[in-house]
Amino acid sequence: MCGIIGYIGERPACEVIVRGLKRLEYRGYDSAGIVTEENGELFIRKGAGRIDELTGKLGFLEMPGKRGIGHTRWATHGVPNDINAHPQRDCTGKIALVHNGIIENFAEIKEELLSKGHRFESDTDTEVIAHLIEEELKSSESFEEAMRRALLRLKGSFALGIIYTGEPDRLYFVRNESPLVLGIGDGENFAASDVPAFLEYTNRAIFLDDREYAVVTKDSYVVKNLDTGETVEKPIHEIEWTLEMAEKAGFPHFMLKEIYEQPRAIRDAIHGNADVIRTVAEEIAKYEKIFIVAMGTSYHAGLVGKYLFQRLAKRVPVVEDASEFRYEFDDLVDEDSLVIAITQSGETADTLAAMKLAKRKGAKVLAIVNVVGSMATRIADLTLYTHAGPEIGVAATKTYTTQLTVLTMLAIELARVLGTADESYLNALEEGLNAIPELVESVLKHDESLRELAESLVDRRDFFYIGRGISVPTALEGALKLKEISYIHAEGLSAGELKHGPLALLEDGVPVVAIAPSGRTFDKMVGNMEESRARGAFVISLGDRGELKRLSDVLIEMPETDELLTPILYAVPLQLIAYHLAVLRGNDPDKPRNLAKSVTVE
Ligand code: F6R
Repeated sequence: MCGIIGYIGERPACEVIVRGLKRLEYRGYDSAGIVTEENGELFIRKGAGRIDELTGKLGFLEMPGKRGIGHTRWATHGVPNDINAHPQRDCTGKIALVHNGIIENFAEIKEELLSKGHRFESDTDTEVIAHLIEEELKSSESFEEAMRRALLRLKGSFALGIIYTGEPDRLYFVRNESPLVLGIGDGENFAASDVPAFLEYTNRAIFLDDREYAVVTKDSYVVKNLDTGETVEKPIHEIEWTLEMAEKAGFPHFMLKEIYEQPRAIRDAIHGNADVIRTVAEEIAKYEKIFIVAMGTSYHAGLVGKYLFQRLAKRVPVVEDASEFRYEFDDLVDEDSLVIAITQSGETADTLAAMKLAKRKGAKVLAIVNVVGSMATRIADLTLYTHAGPEIGVAATKTYTTQLTVLTMLAIELARVLGTADESYLNALEEGLNAIPELVESVLKHDESLRELAESLVDRRDFFYIGRGISVPTALEGALKLKEISYIHAEGLSAGELKHGPLALLEDGVPVVAIAPSGRTFDKMVGNMEESRARGAFVISLGDRGELKRLSDVLIEMPETDELLTPILYAVPLQLIAYHLAVLRGNDPDKPRNLAKSVTVE
């Protein structure tokens, strides 16, 4: 996730852009840059670092011109450094652009452009777009035509702001699977990834839809369909948010916003890894001995990974809490081992220590990380990114479901490489995964009823979360989310374990959340739900089977999907239950007591 802000009007563009970038910093903050134009010349200043620091160091506020575009970056391709910061430009220096998203087919386009003599400065997928437009311009009648022709070749997600010296009065903005909004002013216009970036100047906004682009001058705008080139009529929305509300896109907390971002985040995780997953799977197929190390929510993702690897690739990883791994496995890990470290921040002390130990012992280390350029990516031999964008709320939500997405892709591909599962089943599973963002959207529609459910449970002191098979980690994760932000005691466990002790704690009204998707162990779950109800428990079930109604006090109806994909989908209502309980109990879910986003001490 990155932030884009564009301005064209009578004010010094750099001032509007710097203020906008500050408001977009929550979307990414590893580097930033600005392009402005005056008298047919482009001025570009950019670098790694936070906006405030760069504003002083690079003199952002001294840039000339009344039109320009700014960008705050959250790296996806290429480490965060001065060269990879946006804007990126073409060989002639006449076209500059900024980008939010991921171009899946950039490698093949780059190769083609290199063979035609283009010279690249950065490692980014973004720079390819500038050169591709430059190339298309050679045989196009107008810049707009060249831009369209270039964009039609791109696969992936992209929101773009584009400036061209040959057309002094306009800017172009494009949206495909990454957000972009126009701000309509009086004798000036704006465009941004999000409304807060321009809300202090205008509250009139036009939300571009996917595969639309806008040609914006200071007094006019026109929106067109990218595929047909035809003009599209767009309504103007009057935004009624305050600035503070707008930073959270109207959500009261970052956590809720991040829960709602999951369809987009999962899509980006799929797109962002589509090209690289095969190579990684081929590499890890060489290892029989697999360890997965992580902490907290990432550890739960590791447990889901274990089920996926077992079922699909017939490999049985050992999943270990990284703080334990360091002391218990140092003589078991060796050069025949693969260690998969899962960490959203890439900075968790115990996980980093486990990775370093693995490296010392000669093991191959694969990291699954959200933060590009973080320490974990520097220690690992191989890295897969989750592409969730920055997560501000302390409780992991979208970073968890994107970790699961990447692990699912990896297990599917590993099974292909090893030939351990039927190809038609793997294809169907992959299709199922591609449909998950839409299913998550449908699950988010339960939000209001989950809030009402939370209201009825606000005074309960203990919760139990139960599941079987691949739903055990979902139960653990549901309990962890509840504990950390609502401060209610909760236990997650395998439903089979109930009878071996915890059942003694069940009494009238104790909530038992049963994760009960269709699958191998559904019938067994039915038995566990019956035994819980017989002890007076208040059973809340999550599942896709009608008979759950009879067995539950409350049924959260879930869409059907393959059992192996349910951990992604079922995490969402559990996050919402925890969120609402936290808010109803007067807690700030974004900043739970005693907890930090990155645990950089052991
Ligand atoms: C819980 C949570 C933590 C983290 C854990 C590991 O919501 O966020 O349990 O999952 O601290 O952090 P990373 O993934 O950054 O290594």
